[in-house]
Amino acid sequence: MDTILLNNGIRMPLLGYGVFKVDPKECERCVADALRTGYKMIDTAQFYANEEGVGKAVMESGINREDLFIVTKVWISNSGDAKACSSIEESLKKLRTDYVDLLLVHQPYGDYYGTYRALEKALESGKTRAIGLSNFYNDRFCDLTQHCNIIPAINQLETNIFSQQTEMRSLMSTTGTSLMAWGPMAQGKDAFFSNDILLKIGKKHGKTPSQIGLRFLVQQGIPAIPKTTDPARMAENMDIFDFTLDDEDMHTLTSMNIHDQGTRSYTDPAYAHRIISQKI
Ligand SMILES: NC(=O)c1ccc[n+]([C@@H]2O[C@H](COP(=O)([O-])OP(=O)(O)OC[C@H]3O[C@@H](n4cnc5c(N)ncnc54)[C@H](OP(=O)(O)O)[C@@H]3O)[C@@H](O)[C@H]2O)c1
Repeated sequence: MDTILLNNGIRMPLLGYGVFKVDPKECERCVADALRTGYKMIDTAQFYANEEGVGKAVMESGINREDLFIVTKVWISNSGDAKACSSIEESLKKLRTDYVDLLLVHQPYGDYYGTYRALEKALESGKTRAIGLSNFYNDRFCDLTQHCNIIPAINQLETNIFSQQTEMRSLMSTTGTSLMAWGPMAQGKDAFFSNDILLKIGKKHGKTPSQIGLRFLVQQGIPAIPKTTDPARMAENMDIFDFTLDDEDMHTLTSMNIHDQGTRSYTDPAYAHRIISQKI
């Protein structure tokens, strides 16, 4: 599996398997299928309520822990230093591991400075190998990175051909924070899977729209975590390391960036209220 080097010197796979909206009852089966397919990185979160399924599948897989890369995220209702610290212990228990590879602040709401301190402590005590953020844009990213002891290794943002995060990539390059792509296939929105340009470039390489969209990200060194519950699609989404998009393809795909910073506005009060009210 191709990897990238994070700003703290650890390596992270360029492709992983995401489990947002994977039913907790189905999660163990899905992660077991993903691991059998060859995925080495699993992206979960306290909010997804399926860390236990991830933990069981990893344990049953018999794969050495050090060969896997497990990511989880602290939710808003666990924000603040003390609550985040105990929620991290809880996550480790559910995941049946002594450490995760990457621990993220899930949302830029609640006492996320306190949460970040808890992440820094988890890093120092070996409970995680890297720490970072998710959904931190513009001013919030600048402010947190000015007021932390350890610069985030990752900022996980909605990133795909329609939302390419060029502004955030430029800002994050000032701190050496790497972009990680959630929604790498736009969650199927904007008719991603039947897009004419993706179909046309796909035909040229004998690949599907999902493979072109994912290849576009990993070829730029952006780790992506596609989600599917279907083993055939898991294999399809992984089969992107045997071809290269040429300059013309990359130019065409780059021009498809219609909403650079994603489809959510984290500064919109209605959106903020909706997210903040989601309890776990
Ligand atoms: N940090 C955050 O706030 C945040 C937010 C959202 C997501 N995430 C992470 O990012 C991961 C991926 O994002 P996402 O799940 O929102 O969106 P996504 O991976 O872009 O898209 C998932 C959708 O695409 C379908 N799909 C997958 N592969 C396909 C294929 N080859 N052909 C056709 N359809 C396909 C899936 O359906 P089926 O399952 O039916 O195949 C599902 O409806 C999540 O699982 C989660 O780990 C993080």
